[in-house]
This record gives sequence, structure tokens and C-alpha cells, in this order.
Amino acid sequence: MTIKQALRQAIETLTSNRFEEAHLEAELLLRHLLGIGRAELHLRLEDSLPPEQTPELDRLIRRRLSHEPMAYITGHKEFFGLDLIVTADTLIPRPETELLVEKALELAGNRTSPTIADVGTGCGAIAIAMAVHLPQAKVYAFDISTAALEVAALNCERHRVTERVHLLQGDLLQGDLASNIPARIKAGDKPPRYDLILANLPYVSDRQMRGLCDDVRLFEPALALSGGPDGLQQISRLLAQARDKLHPGGAILLEISPEQRTGVVELAGRHLPGDNVKVYPDLSGHDRVIVMESKADKNLAIAPGEGA
Ligand SMILES: C[S@@+](CC[C@H](N)C(=O)[O-])C[C@H]1O[C@@H](n2cnc3c(N)ncnc32)[C@H](O)[C@@H]1O
Repeated sequence: MTIKQALRQAIETLTSNRFEEAHLEAELLLRHLLGIGRAELHLRLEDSLPPEQTPELDRLIRRRLSHEPMAYITGHKEFFGLDLIVTADTLIPRPETELLVEKALELAGNRTSPTIADVGTGCGAIAIAMAVHLPQAKVYAFDISTAALEVAALNCERHRVTERVHLLQGDLLQGDLASNIPARIKAGDKPPRYDLILANLPYVSDRQMRGLCDDVRLFEPALALSGGPDGLQQISRLLAQARDKLHPGGAILLEISPEQRTGVVELAGRHLPGDNVKVYPDLSGHDRVIVMESKADKNLAIAPGEGA
């Protein structure tokens, strides 16, 4: 069988199972199998598919037919223009989260060497995007999951930011070096305060978690999704901790679920009274990022957004 025939078969199988992006996904599966880029795949269409790779291709297609996300099958996901390694231990970074990075870069732009925390870093998406775009920044990336931190460490190496992204294990901002963390994950000295605290914490409510049976999120770790009864458990705990961890004039940026807007704005009022609170919609028009900016530092200018 030629690569072209294998590709056709894969497209037909995915199409007949109602996969909307059958062509693109079939190509990605073959490229992943052969370890080649798009251009090479098209140059090699008339080559034979090595017979020992046919069962492996079938296995990849079966995984996709079970609705396993493409990112877990290929082990990669693009985020903010960066190719990131993902595994079943990490959330797959979402395009919506790029809005949080955009807003954080706008706010950090006025600082020469900002100190930034990324709480619940997962595969390191937010922390690494910030470090890559702000060469003077120091980033402290926290996660409770050792397995996720191991993936974040690989991504830091891949994007050459290991020296400036400190990976810390622990509960929210209380991260520390744990004995079971690989040597390449360095604790570094945690700063007492940050200019920016960023977080995309788990925010799926218990009710929504129960309804995930047909959802892509079913494949993702519950630890990365579950935010307790109303989805706000971790966000509320972080806001309670964050107050004393922020430089005057600093800001906290959180990704939220649109229906949590009122609840998170209330929490901000309780834990961070006097802060300037704004909520920004994602490209689909859903409230997605909340920015809580402390007013003490007049140098930090926030871009116009939708007032909370
Ligand atoms: C929604 S995922 C976000 C991952 C990544 N920041 C992103 O945007 O793709 C939430 C992350 O928070 C971590 N997490 C959950 N509870 C935590 C806690 N109490 N302290 C620190 N991290 C936590 C999970 O392990 C997971 O990696």
C-alpha cells in the first residue's frame, strides 16, 4: 500500500465516522506515524508505507475513533505560536487561554524585568509564552502535579527558558521543591511578591464534571478540570492567598468560565477590595479573562476593556 492509499483510507474511515476535519486529521496521523512534515508527506505520497507501520496506523486511527484528542495522540499542541509537548497528565492548552497571555503581555510591557507567577502551569503553556516574549522576565510556574511539571520541564528545555522559568510543586502559590521531582526541576528562590499572578485554574463545576461523558475533556486529568461544587474553589483560594503576594500596582489575571463572571467579580471585591476589575471576552464573545489590577502603581496601564 502506498502512503497515498493509506491516507485515502484514513480519510474515508474518519469521514464515515463523522469527523469534521477528517482530511487534516488523517494527514496529521500519517505525519506523526512517519515522523515527517507536511511538505515531505506530499513528496512521498507514491512511496510504499512500510508494512510494519500499517498496524500502528490502524491503532492511531482507532484511538481517534474513540474521540481521544489529536493532541494526546500526536503528543503536541501549538499555543501562542509555540509547539508544546502534552501528555495525558496535562491539560491541552486552549486557544482561549492565549487571551490571558495577550493581556498579561500588555500589562507587563511597562516593566523592565517583571516577576511573574503562573499558578497551575500544566505543560507550562502560559509560563513559557511569557518567558519567550519577555526576555527580562522571571517566571515562577506552580503545579500540584509532579507529572505535569515533568512535561513543563521538557517544554522549558525545548524553548530554552529553563534558566528563567522556575518550576515549583505544591498547592497554589505555596510551591516548593519536592523530593520526587526530577533534578532538572529547580526550586529557585521564590520571590516574596510578584508583579503579575496568572492562573488558568480548574474551573469546571461538579455538575459539569458529571456531564463530561461525551466531551473531549473526558480524556484530560480531573485534577486539571475539577473546580469543586461551583467551579470556583481553587480560584477563591488563590485570590485569598494572592493579596499578600502581589507587588503594589501588580495585577492578577485569571481565566474563567463565562457563567462564573459574577461569582469571580464578587470574590475579587471580597479579597481585593479597591482593585480595578475588568473582564475581557474571548474571540467567541464569551467572558473569559478577568484582570484585577491594584491601583497603587500608576505606571501600570491597562488596555481598555469591558468594565466589570
Ligand atoms: C486548567 S489546567 C491549566 C493548565 C495550563 N495552565 C493551561 O492553561 O493549559 C489547571 C492546572 O492546575 C493544576 N492544579 C490543580 N489544583 C492545583 C492546586 N491546588 N495547586 C496548584 N496547581 C493545581 C492542575 O494540575 C493543572 O495542571
